[in-house]
This record gives sequence, structure tokens and C-alpha cells, in this order.
Amino acid sequence: MLDKTADFWERQRKAPLYETLERHARRRPHPFHVPGHKMGSSFDRAGKERFESVFPLDMTEISGMDDLHQPEGVIAEAQALAAEAFGAEETRFLIGGSTVGNIALIMAVCRPGDKIIVQRNCHKSVFNGIMIARATPVYVVPAVDLGTGVAAGLRREDVERTLQAHPDAKAVFLTNPTYYGMGIDLVKMAATVHRFGIPLLVDEAHGAHYGFHPSLPHSAMQCGADAAVQSTHKMASALTMSSMLHIQGNLIDRGRLARALAMIQSSSPSYLLLASLDLARRHLVMEAAGEWNRLIPVLDELRKRIGGLDWVRLASLSSNSVYTTLDPFKLMLNLYTRSLTGFTLQKLLEENGVFPELADLGHVLLAASAGTSQEDVDALWRLLQELAPEPAAETVRIFQAGVLASSFLREQVMPMHEAADAGRETVPLEAAAGRIAAEMVIPYPPGIPLLVPGERIDREVLELLKELRASQARFHGVKNARLETIEVHA
Ligand SMILES: Cc1ncc(COP(=O)(O)O)c(C=O)c1O
Repeated sequence: MLDKTADFWERQRKAPLYETLERHARRRPHPFHVPGHKMGSSFDRAGKERFESVFPLDMTEISGMDDLHQPEGVIAEAQALAAEAFGAEETRFLIGGSTVGNIALIMAVCRPGDKIIVQRNCHKSVFNGIMIARATPVYVVPAVDLGTGVAAGLRREDVERTLQAHPDAKAVFLTNPTYYGMGIDLVKMAATVHRFGIPLLVDEAHGAHYGFHPSLPHSAMQCGADAAVQSTHKMASALTMSSMLHIQGNLIDRGRLARALAMIQSSSPSYLLLASLDLARRHLVMEAAGEWNRLIPVLDELRKRIGGLDWVRLASLSSNSVYTTLDPFKLMLNLYTRSLTGFTLQKLLEENGVFPELADLGHVLLAASAGTSQEDVDALWRLLQELAPEPAAETVRIFQAGVLASSFLREQVMPMHEAADAGRETVPLEAAAGRIAAEMVIPYPPGIPLLVPGERIDREVLELLKELRASQARFHGVKNARLETIEVHA
């Protein structure tokens, strides 16, 4: 990203979509079109002031504003600038999060019955994409990092073995980096997958900032992946839901991809979100590095201080790690105490105004970004210092969202979509042993399914679910959010 020509900087200084919206607003137009708030003229009185400055950006496809589903004007220009900045051949803006990018990619590469090799601890959107496409997943279980107890990523050898066993698979789909910021050697992974003539698809939801600073790992595009889906709203500065899908090479049918995106994305995409993508790209190229340069020493100092605490350890790269890259802006607190779980630590921090990204039984994840201030870090450190719980030699037994390798190994009795569509009954969780799941059970965050439809509910997963339920974990995908009951195949 650093050795760019003067032309590159000149081009990237522009934000064509945002600037077009700005210019239009300055004309004080008479809007005889939707949205009905008419650039803010009619809106709830109490909320109006807060929204005032963004109303003019909440536009629709009037002349000059282009069309996300058939881009030829300013959206095409903004996407082309993003493709240049992220090193892709083509970039598509997404207004439904990485969720729609993952689903569309699977719809693009798989026809009903086609096999796709998938990391078992993928985000639920990947499983939903497989169900929608009626594809057949072939799971690869991730390696567990012993230092932290969390699933860190796929081993290249495991993927290679699976590719040899399933030469008819249409793609490999993996997550990199993980929610915790851990990553694998994607260059080698891409080379392995390409030897089998199929595309490597990467859920890079947590890596939109990768490749934009020497302290950050390379991005999936830089490593040779065929597609990467990024939540630009997570670790970069776009508004929530604003995401991007980057593509390169000729292994993905771009026509099918465009059709899939047109099916699952709104026909009235938010220009507020699209403009935020245009600006987030410019911010990453032009400004973020300066902000990170200020942040990095602040986080280094915080890491040093936390290193002095006897009840918590930070995830860090070492020769024993199964991951090879770590996002410097993710701080994963690994608890070594019996007096606090990750959930209770999260609650204590929140009661004092510090809000972590996520917690599980044994960890709390803190996500910093270019927007994190010294004041934020000071507030966090004060609380961590004051807490001083009794230390323990061992880390808490960790059950977070299926992190133990064995917890991913369920018997898939019938295809996901068949089990989800077939007759079902509701049984108490305690009575579900041996039954076939008819719904996804997804502890959230991080949104990784412990059970998918069609899988046998064995004793191990049952114990895991009971333990998570007792620790007040939240569940997505289920009819009964407290998981007193579960939907099973009738
Ligand atoms: C690994 C991973 N992939 C995809 C998603 C979905 O991203 P979005 O919220 O942008 O739809 C998430 C959300 O947390 C995620 O953690």
C-alpha cells in the first residue's frame, strides 16, 4: 500500500459517491421521490435534531445517483476506487453486512447438491448460504490454540487432505482472521486450493483494515484469495452493515454473483451506507495510518501493564501458536481466576462504562480501532487494575461457542436444508440427546453455530449447551432464546 504512484493518491483523494450526494444536497432540491422524510422535512420531532445532518445523504436512485444493482456512474466509480485500494479486480458494495456477501458467494459457486469445503466454525451466514444454495458442506475442523483454548484457523494439511478426498468440491470457504484476530498463512492456503483448480473464498469480516499498515497482516486479496468479504463497519470506519466483497481471478462466475446479490440485497440500498463505504475507503487510504501510529504505542503500553496482572493473560503470537498472524488491535483477555468468568468481567466493565466486544466463559475480547482514544484505554486500565480477583494457576475450562475441536464433530444425519424444512417437534433441552437438530443453535456472539439442522445432538454438545445456558450466554437461531427447549426432527 505504500509504494503507490502520484496518480494513485490523486485518484484516491476523491469520494465520488459522497461528493455527488453533497453536491445534490447543496442545490436545495424539491424532492418528489422517496424516502418520505423528504431530506428530513417530516420526521419525529424528538429524533430530528440527532438525525439532521445525515438526512440529505439518505437518497434514492434519482438521476445521477446510479444504481447499486446495475452500476454505471458514481457507484461504479466508487467501487472501482475501492477495488484499486484493496487490490481487487472488482469490488461490490454491500448494504446487508458480510452476511449477504457470504451468502451470495456460496450461491455463486454452488448449484444444488454441489460440495463446498467449509471451516466448521464459520459464521452462521455461511451455513445459511449453504442451506439457501442447497449445497453439501464438507467440514474441516479448525486447529485449537492451546494458549487460549479458542479455535484459531484451518491447517493447510487438513484442507489438502479434504481436497484430495473430495476432488469434486466447488470451493473452499474459510474465515480469516477469526473474531479474535487470529490468522493463518493464506498465501500457502491459496496455493494449495488453486492446485485443485477451485476458488478460495475468505470471510474477512474482521479484516477490512488488513494491508493498510506495516503492523497489520496482509489482506486475503494480497495473499491470492479469489474472493474476500469484509465488514468495513467492524474494524474500519464505515457505518454498521456497510461491507465489501472483493474479487479477483476467473474462478468465480461474476454474472452468477451479481444475480445472487441482486436477489438478496434490497432494491432500495441505503445511500447513507454506500457513501460511508466510499469515505471508509478514502479514510483507510489517506488517514487511518496516522491514527494507528498514535494508537499503537498506547496499546503497547496497555499490553505491558496487563502483562503485569496475575489473573489475566493476553493472547500473543509465539512459536507455539497455531495461528501465524494476530490483529494488533484485538486484545483478548484470557482469564486465570476462579472468581470471575468472562461474562461477569464483561458485566463489571459495562457497569463502569467500558463496553467490550464480546465475552465467553474464559475470555473477554476488546476491539480497539483507529478511533480508540487514550482516555478509553485509561478507563479500561483503571478498572482492570482495581478488580484484582484471586489468581488461579489454570485458565477456566473453556466452552466458548464450540472452541474445543471435538465439539465440532457432530454426526450429520441429513442435509441441513432437509432437516430445517422437515416436520419438527419441540422438546426440553435435557430430553434432546440422540435426536436430530431441526434448528441452528448459535451462541452469540460470536455467531458460530454449535449445532446445525440435520446434526445428531450428542451428549457432549448437550453438556456444552447446558453450561452455556447456565452462564447466561445468548442464543441465536433457536425458537426458545433461553434454550429451555430445542427444535428437533420429528
Ligand atoms: C466471522 C464473521 N463473518 C461474518 C459476520 C457477519 O458480518 P455482518 O455483521 O457484517 O453481516 C460476522 C459477524 O459478526 C463474523 O463474525
